[in-house]
Amino acid sequence: MEINNKSDFITSEQTATLENFKQLIRNSVTEIFSLDNNTQNVSVEAFLENTDHGALHAFHVYKKAMEIADTVELETKEQVNRGMLYFMAITHDSGRFHISENEKKQIRCERSHNKCGMGQIQKAIRNLKNLWMVVPPKQEADLMDYVYNHDFFNTRLDGDTYQEPKSLEGQITRLADRMSTDISTEARRYWETGKRLKTPYFKEDISFEDRVNFSFPKIRNYIKSGNFDEFTFFLTLLSMSGDDFAHPVMKEIYNEWAKDKHDAIVTILEIAREEEFSEGDIQEMENLIHRYILHFNLTW
Ligand SMILES: [Fe+2]
Ligand SMILES: [Fe+2]
Repeated sequence: MEINNKSDFITSEQTATLENFKQLIRNSVTEIFSLDNNTQNVSVEAFLENTDHGALHAFHVYKKAMEIADTVELETKEQVNRGMLYFMAITHDSGRFHISENEKKQIRCERSHNKCGMGQIQKAIRNLKNLWMVVPPKQEADLMDYVYNHDFFNTRLDGDTYQEPKSLEGQITRLADRMSTDISTEARRYWETGKRLKTPYFKEDISFEDRVNFSFPKIRNYIKSGNFDEFTFFLTLLSMSGDDFAHPVMKEIYNEWAKDKHDAIVTILEIAREEEFSEGDIQEMENLIHRYILHFNLTW
């Protein structure tokens, strides 16, 4: 089986609405790919129900990826494989849904969901081989490379651990994942995730130095020492720019979306109010954001 633009199970009708999209996941993922298998402790149902990184998010990523693909094809004449966009959209965060009775194990998998996601893809490809359907090695490599690197922000935040995905489809889906909704909705989605993982919203005792020195390879140490809150992720959200995308068309698309980043700041402070932080704390958060923006000279 080759994943292509006309894969039988990916028609535009099947992906038109969230309900149809979910049904397609039930059919293609549960039945064909057998990801929902107790021995693997993966729950497709949890994926379908979740609203921060589950089917709803995958749906938005897929739709956005299709839109970006149209622009890229129009402006560069490059050909995008839309079947790959579908597979990438539904598998990039699926590693977060490694439901286990061991809560610690489950959270570990959520934090390293790229690696758990790669395990799921490998299993899916093995299952397909048992059905005499072979995914070409190049496509398998592109899927694995994308899922491994999908959360790459930039070298300041990731060091050399991750890099931009190599394939055009991987680069498109990475961009779509960063801008699948407007920026305020994106900030609220981060918040939803934080609540689900019981991450504190804001810890005032984290020093500015620790804030600016944060990077993803250090995340374990930050969590262990208690220097970690949801605010950390908001600062990473503000840290990206079009320059973090090598493809010239994607650079421009991201910059256009990022023009509204000031709205994200308003939302972050709005959520703090909903979380019942004092006006003094909220002022401190606002100052911190502006200091951080100045420190790294972030512009959108
Ligand atoms: Fe992710
Ligand atoms: Fe995602």
